[in-house]
Amino acid sequence: MKTNPFKFGSVVDGPYFTDREDEMERIASYLNGENHLILISPRRYGKTSLIRKIVNESKRNYVFLDIQIVLSVEDFASQLLKRVYRIFPVQKLKSYIKSFRLIPIVNINPVTGEPEISFKPGSRELTPLEDVLNLIEKLGTDKKKIIVVLDEFQDIFRIDKILDRFLRSVMQNQRHINYIFMGSSESMIREIFEKKSSSFYRFGTLMILGKIGKDKFTLFLKERFADITDKSKELSQEILDITDSHPYYTQQLASTVWELLVRFGFSSGIVETAANEIVKSHDNDYERLWNNFNRTDMMVLNGMSASYISPLSNEFSRLFGTGASSTVFSTLQRLTHKGIILKEGSVYNIDDPFFKRWIVLRRNE
Ligand SMILES: Nc1ncnc2c1ncn2[C@@H]1O[C@H](COP(=O)(O)OP(=O)(O)OP(=O)(O)O)[C@@H](O)[C@H]1O
Ligand SMILES: [Mg+2]
Repeated sequence: MKTNPFKFGSVVDGPYFTDREDEMERIASYLNGENHLILISPRRYGKTSLIRKIVNESKRNYVFLDIQIVLSVEDFASQLLKRVYRIFPVQKLKSYIKSFRLIPIVNINPVTGEPEISFKPGSRELTPLEDVLNLIEKLGTDKKKIIVVLDEFQDIFRIDKILDRFLRSVMQNQRHINYIFMGSSESMIREIFEKKSSSFYRFGTLMILGKIGKDKFTLFLKERFADITDKSKELSQEILDITDSHPYYTQQLASTVWELLVRFGFSSGIVETAANEIVKSHDNDYERLWNNFNRTDMMVLNGMSASYISPLSNEFSRLFGTGASSTVFSTLQRLTHKGIILKEGSVYNIDDPFFKRWIVLRRNE
């Protein structure tokens, strides 16, 4: 039996990866110089997949850390060091670590072979983090800089309010590291890197990752569906109409359509059936999400799922009873901040097409 050619939820590469040629070229060329990169996109647009692919293909040493999992400043140091252990031989690291101001406890897990590292917890000391960052600097060279990727970078403020200033003061003197800062909260990342008074002002080049090009995505879907149906063109079109080329949701819907095709063969409503199946499988999550909104949120979201009229227009307010456009505006801003709504250019949309569908279905029940 053929395996499902679509994949969603985890990092994709190889036959599951499409498009991004321009971005790959641009990013690779930044990383050849002494530059740092700031990469922003909404959730699940493909930041991690793209950066992993670029660094893998560059054949350079890299350290990848998601700041979301970091619990404290000591933990930041431990997590970074653990990743350094994965790429350099223990012998090489030993001599450097001897000169650390606070010596970490390193235990090699006998089963996995993975090092477990801890600095004295609770001390809130910044020295371990500084030592680890400087260790990475020493391990890099002019010709072979190390790439350090810090994902969900805006989370540094959760760890410590002044961590940004400290990191900047260390990083600005380093020459053997290319940093890639990533984040899905556009407003917070912009705040860190674009505000004149902020610590990381103009520290690197800011790049925004968009959706996957519609032509590329159409081709990607068509090629894969062509293996099992002669309706590949229609199916691809219908899928992209629902997902609007969102990388994750497109792969999710395509994967579900594929499963249905294999099991039951083609039928004209197959994409609708697949979309409704996805909606159903998330019923609990959507219900919980919905119940956490206030009344204005609900009214705005309801209007946005029922029509394409701009939520800021008078017509929208009249049709859906949302009141003053200033109220709608602040609601939109808040929901954008939470990632529920996406602002593309001047257009607002609900991010998750299946949540949008859930609202419509629920209201029509
Ligand atoms: N270049 C691509 N080609 C095809 N599908 C992609 C591509 N990039 C991402 N996707 C789809 O989107 C999903 C999410 O990708 P990825 O985890 O890289 O995004 P992310 O922006 O890092 O997400 P998160 O916000 O959760 O960290 C993948 O599992 C895949 O289904
Ligand atoms: Mg990611």
